[in-house]
Amino acid sequence: MRSIIDINDVSTAEVNTLLKTAHDIISQPHHYRQAAGGKILATLFYEPSTRTRLSFEAAMYRLGGNILSMPSARDSSVAKGETIADTLAVVSNYADIVAVRYPNDGAALVAAQAARVPVINAGDGGHFHPTQTLADMLTIDRAFGRLGGLNIVAVGDLLYGRTVHSLLHALMRYPGNTFTMVSPPELRLPADFVTQLRAGRVEVIETSSLPQALADADVIYMTRIQQERFEHAADYERLKSSYELDAQMMAYAPPSSIVMHPLPRVGEISIDVDSDPRARYFEQTYNGKIMRMALIDYLLSDAEKNPDAQCRREILDSHPDEKLHCANKRCVVHVERGLVPRFYGQPALCAYCDYAAVLS
Ligand code: NCD
Repeated sequence: MRSIIDINDVSTAEVNTLLKTAHDIISQPHHYRQAAGGKILATLFYEPSTRTRLSFEAAMYRLGGNILSMPSARDSSVAKGETIADTLAVVSNYADIVAVRYPNDGAALVAAQAARVPVINAGDGGHFHPTQTLADMLTIDRAFGRLGGLNIVAVGDLLYGRTVHSLLHALMRYPGNTFTMVSPPELRLPADFVTQLRAGRVEVIETSSLPQALADADVIYMTRIQQERFEHAADYERLKSSYELDAQMMAYAPPSSIVMHPLPRVGEISIDVDSDPRARYFEQTYNGKIMRMALIDYLLSDAEKNPDAQCRREILDSHPDEKLHCANKRCVVHVERGLVPRFYGQPALCAYCDYAAVLS
């Protein structure tokens, strides 16, 4: 079954189709009022969320579909120790499509493998967040009319911030983009990822100075320091106030630039930026609903037309290897009972979370 785990599961041609549908939904919403009539979306969120869950649910209602949802993980069988695989095998009997959010990296792939309906990853740990990226791409497209030839300045927690990881994966496919990465040294993009970007001939600049980076920015992508992913609270306390974009700081940014944030903000953007016409973070949440409508519509019709299609991740050429071990403590392979770790590539990476494998 076709699922979306990673933004790389969506081809460039499909991104274009989704953007076209999104623009059409914005101009002619009445055409989509019954697009998912009679269908059910289940939202399984085992991590806090406001926007993502509500926007999935709003998207499904706007398509004329229905929702199955749980108020919180505490109320589910997961609290009794149920595996992800069992939960998805069960929910596949009740829903036509499922959106999942889990705290562990790689958990959405486990869900997709067990489900008999399309699964959309709504965030798996610090790994990926493809629907936020689709929202971000629509925001950039609406502002610039293109997705290439832009200087993307990402600021904040680039180590754990899954929204940045997914966005860079998506934008590296478009020619002429430069990535300027602004973070404290401890929260830089994972080194393997930087190597991967540079191998794809993408220019990556890493710095800790915000004013300097703003001067040539097209997209200023602010992010929250991801408190919940830190092992030591003291490290979070030391780093939490690393950057604050305020009206004074915005003087360094070009008039044509835009400011984005996946939200929630917890101090990275001062409220005096809200009235600046370059601020696009609230429009981004609207775009998130629109792109989720486009994606749900697309996946539901794809499931009818191609019931045997696989998501690209599932066909990733991986294999079990008893001599290897996933070095990422937050990976799903360390928590999901019965899950056999799998690896791909040389040097070997974990097929679930893409972190480097080590000899066990
Ligand atoms: C982000 C997330 O959950 O990764 N938020 C969102 O999806 N709207 C960003 C964050 O939590 O910092």
